[in-house]
Amino acid sequence: MPRHLLTVADLSAGELAELVDRATRPSLGTPLTGRGVAMIFEKPSNRTRQSTEMAVVQLGGHPVYTRGEEIGFDSREPVEDVTRVMAGYHAVLTARVFDHAVLRRMAAVDAIPVVNLLSDWSHPLQALADVVTMRQVHGSLAGLAVAWVGDYNNVARSLAEACVLLGADIALAAPTGYGPAEHEVERLRLLGSGTVRVVTRAVDAVRGALAVHTDTWTSMGQEAEKGTRAQAFEAFRVDEPLMAHADPAAGFYHCLPAYRGQEVSAAVIDGPRSHVIAQSHRRLDAARAVLSFVIEES
Ligand code: CP
Ligand code: NVA
Repeated sequence: MPRHLLTVADLSAGELAELVDRATRPSLGTPLTGRGVAMIFEKPSNRTRQSTEMAVVQLGGHPVYTRGEEIGFDSREPVEDVTRVMAGYHAVLTARVFDHAVLRRMAAVDAIPVVNLLSDWSHPLQALADVVTMRQVHGSLAGLAVAWVGDYNNVARSLAEACVLLGADIALAAPTGYGPAEHEVERLRLLGSGTVRVVTRAVDAVRGALAVHTDTWTSMGQEAEKGTRAQAFEAFRVDEPLMAHADPAAGFYHCLPAYRGQEVSAAVIDGPRSHVIAQSHRRLDAARAVLSFVIEES
């Protein structure tokens, strides 16, 4: 049976720990020799496209990138037909989609391993790169105080899942209406040994934290809400006064692209505590690890 990776929660704690280790190995061999990886993008990308293509090359395979509008999910042909066709050409089907349900439908066909390259629900490759980076900076995830400041979005959900699975303690700060619902918090808490705290003031998440994360206030697909969101998140900017409440050894993390002067000040993202470029480089390691994992497990 094909092994899929649609969310971090698809993994056991042991599997995630194994993926973190795998992502730190210098080489994972060439399990994709003579094989392809389909990459379908319904949204723009810099890091995800570049790192996934290079991961496929390093694993000995050939990536084939296609824009979503060329494929036309459910307009030119059904998602299920696309999936069955791709299974004849490729070892893995990867996709960045607006609606997470599209990935679920691909996975339900069970013809080829499906890997999520970002959906409205989750961004598992980003979370893997995030925990690999934090482990390199802070030593271990167990008991690590992590703060998320801003929208509880795809990146936040995947990071929270990874933190709970690896035993970190995550505090999520969002304005009322933009944080996780109570049932979502309960779901997170059941995943593993880490803890989850939800607050509505940024400082309450950041106080004492060793890793401070944020992301854009307006994700791809939410552009119509940009003005409303800019107002709602005004008190959730990660700037130097906010970082002063964190542990003196705290690092700053952002999945990028970042909007300086909105969710983060230039002084923080371009300052000495920022790990964002190392974090972006870990995306290549994460992609190599996940592709080799799903091939091995399928
Ligand atoms: N962080 C991330 O996924 O970046 P891209 O949207 O550029 O791929
Ligand atoms: N939350 C952002 C992440 C971009 C990598 C988005 O979905 O647009």
